[in-house]
Amino acid sequence: MRIGVFDSGAGGLSVVKSLIESKYFDKIIYYGDTARVPYGIKDKNTIIRYSLEALEFFNNFDIDLLITACNTVSAYALDDMNQQSKYPVIGVIKSGVMAVEKHNIKKDEPILIIATRATIASNQYQTALRELGYNNITAIQTGLFVPMVEEGIFDGEVLDATMRYYFKDISTPSALILGCTHFPLISNSLSNYFNNSPTLIHSGEAIVNYLEEGYSLKQRKDKPELKIFASENVLGLRKIAKIWLSS
Ligand code: DGL
Repeated sequence: MRIGVFDSGAGGLSVVKSLIESKYFDKIIYYGDTARVPYGIKDKNTIIRYSLEALEFFNNFDIDLLITACNTVSAYALDDMNQQSKYPVIGVIKSGVMAVEKHNIKKDEPILIIATRATIASNQYQTALRELGYNNITAIQTGLFVPMVEEGIFDGEVLDATMRYYFKDISTPSALILGCTHFPLISNSLSNYFNNSPTLIHSGEAIVNYLEEGYSLKQRKDKPELKIFASENVLGLRKIAKIWLSS
């Protein structure tokens, strides 16, 4: 199976890591819109327009499936992308919500969703969880974590202060949905903040489980061939990929 992975920038590499580790794929084509990241502070129409332009990029390749690793894209652009695409386009929100069920989180246990401003405003996670009967949901935008991860800040004072700022009124949840590509990179710090108690929902792991259920995937011996493209500074992105994918 050859898949495309689309993200607004480098963050989607956190999903690529899980896809590589799953060993289900022959080829992964990654495209990060590094020239226009972040998407999480943009409005719906802009996010859809950028996402449809990314779809044009993937027309250059023969892929079976496109995964939008970006939660913000998954929240707004999936329908439009699927209408214009020759292959299925799958987002990470549905699989993330299904992962909450898989971890046997009870309907009244507290669930905290953290994501970009746009993802939180879309209400996609909140609505999907409520439809499943979850009734103790808190959703907050934690956009400052995005540039911090881009800067390589995965722990330490600045991150601690930012967590205190965002979470000052939040009590420890049973499940913490990392609703943004960048947040798995600070998952240790997030987990520590909440005394290592919440179950963390990670888009990469969730999408692999989702694909396992919906597709007949066969494991391969070798790692997939990974090709990385970007709308700007592709060498920079490839350098980040080397670091992130090997850690
Ligand atoms: N990839 C985005 C997401 O998962 C985070 C970065 C951005 O704002 O573009 O929502």
